[in-house]
Amino acid sequence: MQRWVIGAALAGAAFTAQAQGQVNVICSVQAEWCNTMATVYSKTTGVKVNITQKGSGEALAQLNAEKANPKTDLWFGGTGDTHLQAAEMGLTQEYKSPQLKDLHPWAVRQAEDAKYRTVGVYLGPLGFGFNKELLAKKKAAAPMSWADLLKPEFKGEIQMANPASSGTAYTVIATLVQIMGEDKAFDYLRAMNKNVSTYTRSGTAPVKAVARGETMVSISFVHDVTTEAVQGFPVDSSTPSEGTGAEIGSMSIVKFGPNGDNAKKFYEWALTPGGQQFGLAAKQFQLPSNKNVAKDPRVVDPARIKLINYDYAKYGASAERRRLISKWEKEVQDAR
Ligand code: F6P
Repeated sequence: MQRWVIGAALAGAAFTAQAQGQVNVICSVQAEWCNTMATVYSKTTGVKVNITQKGSGEALAQLNAEKANPKTDLWFGGTGDTHLQAAEMGLTQEYKSPQLKDLHPWAVRQAEDAKYRTVGVYLGPLGFGFNKELLAKKKAAAPMSWADLLKPEFKGEIQMANPASSGTAYTVIATLVQIMGEDKAFDYLRAMNKNVSTYTRSGTAPVKAVARGETMVSISFVHDVTTEAVQGFPVDSSTPSEGTGAEIGSMSIVKFGPNGDNAKKFYEWALTPGGQQFGLAAKQFQLPSNKNVAKDPRVVDPARIKLINYDYAKYGASAERRRLISKWEKEVQDAR
């Protein structure tokens, strides 16, 4: 069925006129989704989509480095904290889509928090991924709480990403600070350090290691665990009983990008139910921000998870994000 949807979109491309210019996109979701969107959009509009794939923190760093002479037009996906920071740093452009009325309130709030310099495109809760076969071999129970990650059976068996490059990992830190308070959260992160084998660059690397049997547990967005599970890997997910945070994956138009008109057109398309179906088509299971996208049972229902009342504006502020990441580098990473 998903194949058919893409096929139908490509068939429409028969009417495509000449090349209609290009749009340069930094894409912070998984490559399958970026490439599907680029292919379909190019074929149906004639606009060439040039994709550069980068994690959330790395994307923000690139946009900042390009500030004097932007090469990028649009930034699609990645955790919302980095998009809020880009907005605050003046890297992205104010734009109010007429489709805001069709979006879930969390996606609109994200736009409001950034004075319309970004918008929510998907939501995804944080949880744990685990390899069922490795757990069974060790006769260990799956982690069901943040406290469980400190258990001795997980020594050297947990992977999470590095918050400087990965929005997933920054969401972990901001979530723990909101649940425990900052002092206790850093005590916890220092204690968990002993069980963590490696802090990866990319947010999805830990769950891929779990899927391939290289490590037992990852701290991941739940939808990224589902992506591995549907490919047949022996993985499952849980969400912590103490509560958890969620990302609001976002999209922003770069200020003074070279192809501003094409950026706006791509942005509008990416907010439509038609544009948003390509996440699922590429086996990515975040909750789309447009209320009219058809529901899929494999997409997590946030109402069934104990979500904290995450303060996106506070933890997406430049000073706070920089402070927490450098504290983590000093007190957790350097302490290894
Ligand atoms: O594409 C998967 C995903 O988890 C997105 O939902 C998220 O926005 C992004 O990756 C975060 O990647 P990273 O942690 O590498 O910044």
